[in-house]
Amino acid sequence: MISRKKYAREAKSVPKGFDSPNDFFNYVYNDQDMIWMGQNTNHLHDKDGIMEAMLSSIKKGDYAKYPPPEGFPELKDLIQEDLGLTHGFDSLITAGGTESLYLACNNVLEPENNTLTCDPGYLIIDNFSSRFGEVRSIPIYNEECGYKLTPQLARENLDENTKLILLIDPLNPLGTSYTKEEIKEFAEIAEENDIYLLHDITYRDFARDHCLAAKRVPEHAITIYSFSKIYGMAGLRIGAMIASPDIINSVRTILINDLGTNVVAQKGAIAAVNSKYEWLDRIKETTRSNQKYIKQAVDQVEGAYLPVYPSDANMMVIDLYETGVKPPELADYLLERGIFAREGTYTSKLFGHRYLRVSYSIPTEHVKYFTECFLEGMDALMENKDL
Ligand SMILES: Cc1ncc(COP(=O)(O)O)c(C=O)c1O
Repeated sequence: MISRKKYAREAKSVPKGFDSPNDFFNYVYNDQDMIWMGQNTNHLHDKDGIMEAMLSSIKKGDYAKYPPPEGFPELKDLIQEDLGLTHGFDSLITAGGTESLYLACNNVLEPENNTLTCDPGYLIIDNFSSRFGEVRSIPIYNEECGYKLTPQLARENLDENTKLILLIDPLNPLGTSYTKEEIKEFAEIAEENDIYLLHDITYRDFARDHCLAAKRVPEHAITIYSFSKIYGMAGLRIGAMIASPDIINSVRTILINDLGTNVVAQKGAIAAVNSKYEWLDRIKETTRSNQKYIKQAVDQVEGAYLPVYPSDANMMVIDLYETGVKPPELADYLLERGIFAREGTYTSKLFGHRYLRVSYSIPTEHVKYFTECFLEGMDALMENKDL
């Protein structure tokens, strides 16, 4: 029998009534009417040329050929221009930001190294880091640190073996983001200690303001870019890594997808970056105003609250702890009503029992339906506790 790797752990818990996480995702995916508030994906795109570019690529039969292994130069350039990281940077197109995150951890970390991450956070990255070194996950679910990994916390927790600091910005699940000042301080920490900032900017375009660490410390930053969120292309699995030519050269030696990333997805991605300023404001505005409906509903439930509001991402955390309602109970209640939301354990080992995470770049009428179900559900579940 094959032995499991020492790091192997279930990254995903199995929801009640399902045999495996995969069964659960298959179930929600195949329900065409399911309201998608559990994955921070974006369901607000209209006819904006992205789908049309992909259809045209398919019709031409482009997919019979392998694309250039590192991505179409046109797409690499567009992404770098989008970020203003043109001179002194290089990039690789990957199957989602996820592949880039894995490659970054693999590339930077030696077994004696540790990575500073935060809890709550996007635990898949902790899991990747743990395959190559130690993970130091810093609790940040409190007002004192503003619900984010601060430069001060990083300084307190790093040692001579720290090689990587993970900055998810804005942060999944809380929606906190970094100020210019904080990014400057992180840049100083990276330079002083000769370490790397893994800057995951998956939700960047939802933020009110955003600062790139790579602009401060080009040699010490690895920027992770995704097409899954603002571009609404999660199922196409496309993203990128942007870093100094030195770092990218080093990553070239450990590439997984040596034959390139899905050609149809790349054609869609080119159209997506090219058309971005035609739809960006509309999507951001709807996403932002959707938050308000959720806040109004949460404010009506005694004991429930939003630790971070407004969120700079397209998701937020609803803390239920004081109400006595357990997040999985509410998630199950909502699922029965056709709403997929995420219990906290997916993004936190320490605080997951406190909250439900909901994402809301979805049509406003779906958010309104959620708020009705949320209020009814909280009423019903809290009443059960009182009996
Ligand atoms: C912080 C963060 N990084 C990366 C990803 C995955 O991105 P991709 O779909 O581009 O692999 C997610 C997905 O939810 C995320 O929350």
